[in-house]
Amino acid sequence: MKKSYILGNWKANKTIEEAKEWQVTYMANVPKVSESVEVIVCPAFHHLPLFLEQTQPFALGAQDISMYENGADTGEVTGAMMKGIVRYVMIGHSERRAHFGETNDVVVQKVKRALSLGIIPVVCVSDIKQVAFLHESILNFGESGLLLYEPLSAIGSGVSDSPENTNETAKKIHEIIPSIPILYGGSVTPENVHGFIEQPHLSGVGVGGASLDPMKFSKLVTASSS
Ligand code: PGA
Repeated sequence: MKKSYILGNWKANKTIEEAKEWQVTYMANVPKVSESVEVIVCPAFHHLPLFLEQTQPFALGAQDISMYENGADTGEVTGAMMKGIVRYVMIGHSERRAHFGETNDVVVQKVKRALSLGIIPVVCVSDIKQVAFLHESILNFGESGLLLYEPLSAIGSGVSDSPENTNETAKKIHEIIPSIPILYGGSVTPENVHGFIEQPHLSGVGVGGASLDPMKFSKLVTASSS
């Protein structure tokens, strides 16, 4: 059975109290899914310790990583700090590219940093050019990371791309990086998730808004494997 990934990206949301409430509700409603489904939750950095207090029914991911090692970089969180805490790290989300000036070069540096530390990079792309750049810059990337394809118009808009369109794009991406698991992101909901999961070139979804509500996220995870 093909492995699939459901990645929840909380973005810049939730107080400590709200994160605790999310955790309590989710733990009381843990979706029953097969072992071939990996659920990943990516909260903000300051929430990560909360999820280390007890075993969670999901893997932890960070939303970003510094391109540098530990040192004089005020405000940064490095891969070395996150090693042992997160299994995954998102890199190059379109919001980071648009609001924080992250270029393809920066993305590649961050991916290399994650790989060198054994943290699995989930590289976010919104077009084929970004995929080509990644492929040219990092040998064997397809064997060591995940790709989260998110068309800009679908993020946070409530209007997802169609599963068929997405599959066509994923097919093109696979012509560049054959083995990479590709996730689709952009307005994924419990209602539409299944259509994406069943596409032959897709291996999962990235979920922003719908991951903030624990009941909705639980329902979405369940729906992904039904
Ligand atoms: P959305 O966000 O599900 O709220 O559209 C997706 C993302 O940006 O990862």
